[in-house]
Amino acid sequence: MVKLINFKWQQLILSLGCLLLIIGCQSLYPATNPDAKPLKVATDPTFVPFEFQTADGKLEGFDIDLMNALASPAAGIPKVGGFAVQFESLPFDGMISTLQAKRVDAAISGITITAERLKTIAFSRPYFKAGLAIAVREDNQNIQDFNSLKGKKIAVQIGSTGADFAKTIPNAKISTFNSGPEFFQDLLNGNVDAVVSDAFATLYAIKNGKLKGIKVVADLLTQEYYGIAMPKDSPHLDAINKGLATLLSNGTYKQIYQKWFKVEPPQLPDS
Ligand code: ARG
Repeated sequence: MVKLINFKWQQLILSLGCLLLIIGCQSLYPATNPDAKPLKVATDPTFVPFEFQTADGKLEGFDIDLMNALASPAAGIPKVGGFAVQFESLPFDGMISTLQAKRVDAAISGITITAERLKTIAFSRPYFKAGLAIAVREDNQNIQDFNSLKGKKIAVQIGSTGADFAKTIPNAKISTFNSGPEFFQDLLNGNVDAVVSDAFATLYAIKNGKLKGIKVVADLLTQEYYGIAMPKDSPHLDAINKGLATLLSNGTYKQIYQKWFKVEPPQLPDS
């Protein structure tokens, strides 16, 4: 009889102990802990070699590597010390408004830092030196600079800096497209005379045999810098900037740059 009571007491104490442990764990790591949530990052994976999808649907590219490096504990983001990234594919044109609505935490997509965009969203420090260039069919001899674009048929990506630039060309007839592969196809078909878009992406595609029959006019039209975009007043801005500074100084940035571009990265401004 005594033994049986003892046994029940033991059971009770054990169950109470378990219950306390569970409650304790939940208050230490509540489900709403913001640090425990993965960072939702938007990207438009139609921009080789910055972001694109492999045949089996995997995201790859310079931006993807950079974001993953930022998320690794090695980037040493203070207090965060490594976080999970959840990439979300979005058309480039919707990127800024999605950030404004705070439907994602950040976007990495070869996004140029511009004064206009800074009015509605925030950017990290520059992480890539870029610029716009004119692309034409290989046999084209008459388009060589800004002046020769006057009155021509030009293709651009909707919502891009290339689209903004094209608006400044006198009498140009502008066709807009959702993604890179589409406007280059239009150029090859002879529907337009030139494409105004990011030089590095086009040069990379030509060099790697992904774009045949197209050449890039040597002189860049603009100098631009890409930044990681975030909603205004983002709580992640400071951490992302510190992480970028670490990757730039510890050689990780250089490694990623060389993996994709096979050359030394250029100097970047701090802000
Ligand atoms: N750099 C250009 C811009 O910011 C175009 C970027 C296009 N990126 C992309 N993932 N499609 O407007």
